[in-house]
Amino acid sequence: MPIVMVDPHQVHAPVAFVNQALLDLTGYSQEEVSGRNWHLLHMPGSGRDDLNAVDVALHAGEPFETEFLGRRKNGSAFRCSLALSPVHDEAGHLRWVALALTEIGPAHRSDREDTDQSRHLEEQVERRTRDLQAALDRKTSLLHEVEHRIKNTLQMTASLVLLKARRLRDPEARRVLQETAERVSALSAAHRLLSAAGDGGRFNLKEFTAELAGELVTTLPKGQVDLDLDIQPLGVPAPKATALALLMNELIGNAVKHAFPNGRRGRLTIEIGRTENGLKIAVADNGVGLDHAPPAEGSFGKTLITMLVQQLKGQLTWRDQKPGTRAEIVMPVDAQEMKFE
Ligand SMILES: Nc1ncnc2c1ncn2[C@@H]1O[C@H](COP(=O)(O)OP(=O)(O)OP(=O)(O)O)[C@@H](O)[C@H]1O
Ligand SMILES: [Mg+2]
Repeated sequence: MPIVMVDPHQVHAPVAFVNQALLDLTGYSQEEVSGRNWHLLHMPGSGRDDLNAVDVALHAGEPFETEFLGRRKNGSAFRCSLALSPVHDEAGHLRWVALALTEIGPAHRSDREDTDQSRHLEEQVERRTRDLQAALDRKTSLLHEVEHRIKNTLQMTASLVLLKARRLRDPEARRVLQETAERVSALSAAHRLLSAAGDGGRFNLKEFTAELAGELVTTLPKGQVDLDLDIQPLGVPAPKATALALLMNELIGNAVKHAFPNGRRGRLTIEIGRTENGLKIAVADNGVGLDHAPPAEGSFGKTLITMLVQQLKGQLTWRDQKPGTRAEIVMPVDAQEMKFE
């Protein structure tokens, strides 16, 4: 084993003696190395940190192990491991430190080794990617399953309320229950869309609004109200889905229910789009206007709208368009959070 004996008591730890194996490895002669700093066996520019750590251990007379890039007399490099062993005299005082070098390979790997290595790494990356994709697929399908069950439960709740409504003779009580069933149905529809969403779990507000408005308008006689949709396709994060779904339900529901009494013809316009720092939703009709009739007793929709807008940290304005009503909501939206496709 190539060995260098150095004197730890001198600042530069000069070489005192090297064995034949070290001369064979490096191509030096005994005279060329004796008295010189052992650093001449280190390839310059290949990292000094280890060198410093070796020197610290060397002067302290402590054992130490590391790897470094060695340098032969002809300038060629070799990779080696280095082990430091302190040598003590009979009185137990540190006398020498032996540096044992073991060559562990050429400085550069062969192309073939490199190719093998990179193929191995590629395989590992592929395997990890497959595992991660499988985990993501499992998570996505679980989420879909959960949303699907929520949707079914809500749909069942709506059906139960409707069944009860049909058995009531009091028309007012029946109406109240029917409207409750409609609200629950709107939530169920939101969860149906979430259960079909991609792995981002985003709620497709355009699809939801188009579907809901279409359904609500069909409760009016055909041709009475034209529907005008101007909606940018966008996916909102699942946690906002239920609030937005209910909000759209109340706004569109009000226009359909109150703006066009007695067969009044008109137009319902829904706009959803991006503003400078968020999202803008407008539901406008050219109907009779908000103050046409006093609010029905126990009416709750507008309060619910206000609460939902607060929850979404937005701002709500009602405008009398003469004719008709326009409700406008602007809410701040993180561009990362809400994706406009
Ligand atoms: N687009 C609209 N056009 C005309 N009047 C409206 C419009 N939206 C709301 N209103 C009036 O405002 C009132 C209050 O609306 P709100 O949604 O709070 O209650 P509601 O729709 O009567 O009952 P609920 O929403 O609780 O089922 C309505 O009763 C109606 O008179
Ligand atoms: Mg209402």
